[in-house]
Amino acid sequence: MNEQSGKATLCVHAGKNASLNSEGVNTPIFTSSAIDFLDQDDVRYPRNFNTVNQKVVSAKIAALEGSEDGLLFGSGMAAISNSILALVRSGDHVLFQKDLYGGTYQMATQMLPQFGISYSFSEPTLEAMEAAIRPETKLIYIETPSNPLLKVTDMEMVAGLAKAKGILSMIDNTFASPINQNPIAFGIDIVAHSGSKYMGGHSDLLFGAIATSHQLRQQISEGGKILGSNVNATTCALIERSLKTLALRVEKQNENAQALAEFLQEHPRVEAVYYPGLQDSPEHSIASRQMKGFGGMLSFEPALRSGAEAESLIRKFKVIAPAVSLGGVETIVNMPARTSHSLLPAEERKKAGVKDVLLRLSVGIEDSEDLMRDLDQALQFAGIYATS
Ligand SMILES: Cc1ncc(COP(=O)(O)O)c(C=O)c1O
Repeated sequence: MNEQSGKATLCVHAGKNASLNSEGVNTPIFTSSAIDFLDQDDVRYPRNFNTVNQKVVSAKIAALEGSEDGLLFGSGMAAISNSILALVRSGDHVLFQKDLYGGTYQMATQMLPQFGISYSFSEPTLEAMEAAIRPETKLIYIETPSNPLLKVTDMEMVAGLAKAKGILSMIDNTFASPINQNPIAFGIDIVAHSGSKYMGGHSDLLFGAIATSHQLRQQISEGGKILGSNVNATTCALIERSLKTLALRVEKQNENAQALAEFLQEHPRVEAVYYPGLQDSPEHSIASRQMKGFGGMLSFEPALRSGAEAESLIRKFKVIAPAVSLGGVETIVNMPARTSHSLLPAEERKKAGVKDVLLRLSVGIEDSEDLMRDLDQALQFAGIYATS
């Protein structure tokens, strides 16, 4: 560029300094998808998972999970599906825990058979899983705490079983977040997250992540480059910013959820509360062994007769918002029978213990007294329907 450069050339090139180091405390955002390939060890390109902003965030997530490495994807389902498809082949079998996020269930039942990969579901106990393992099983996949009843699977048991059989183990750690639970320390090989939840934390991002070893990261990224569901630099910068407050947010969410679970447990208009932090929860002892905090998710059954009545109750909330998704700073309420589990036939839902009146709370960072007041006033209204 020189004095003779035309306006169009100046528009494109003037003032540019792609290697600008601002000396600020934040990572600069490097938006380039076209990157110099000369004198480089690998070809840098966003779909190759190797741009500056992708690496910065992946390293932060690996540090939070205590893993050697990490990868970022365009959604939680992209992280899960890319990993599974990169690790198993036609003829292999994947053993899934029975209680699973609906998207993962669909991936197993609708997509894996298209690739000649078989699957089955098992209760997450040693006896049931051992019995369900086949000679061709390549991967055991669990999710803990599970949606929506917060059942807790023993990670050490699953990792031990997988290792004894020479099988990989993978977990969806979304509900816990890396602040409350680090499965790598219990021997799990691959940790997946829907980053759209706690990691993003403000209900405005869609992304996914995995934390794993260098070797598995390499294998998964080779598949991921082909499938192509990567994150751009601007989104990486937003993720990086969100992650800076993850610990603070999750600690407050843990505290609020514990307070709300105890409040609901004592409430005369509530018949059951599902939260692993409750002393008398059947999940409490395993959860105490493997979780550092019990998380911001809880479910409860108000004393109501039908889903329609539960919906009337939800409409009475003033602070708590009816919404799908979870993990944000705001408390939201959702009806699993109408959302995540709506595709299951009523009989199957019943078998899974998901009643029509079940409400799931994703507890935010508001003042817990305000949340209790909101729950109480809505439940008082619900009292006019109460059968007990
Ligand atoms: C537990 C769990 N895993 C995975 C996902 C999928 O994540 P995403 O919506 O980011 O693809 C979700 C989304 O609701 C989830 O709740």
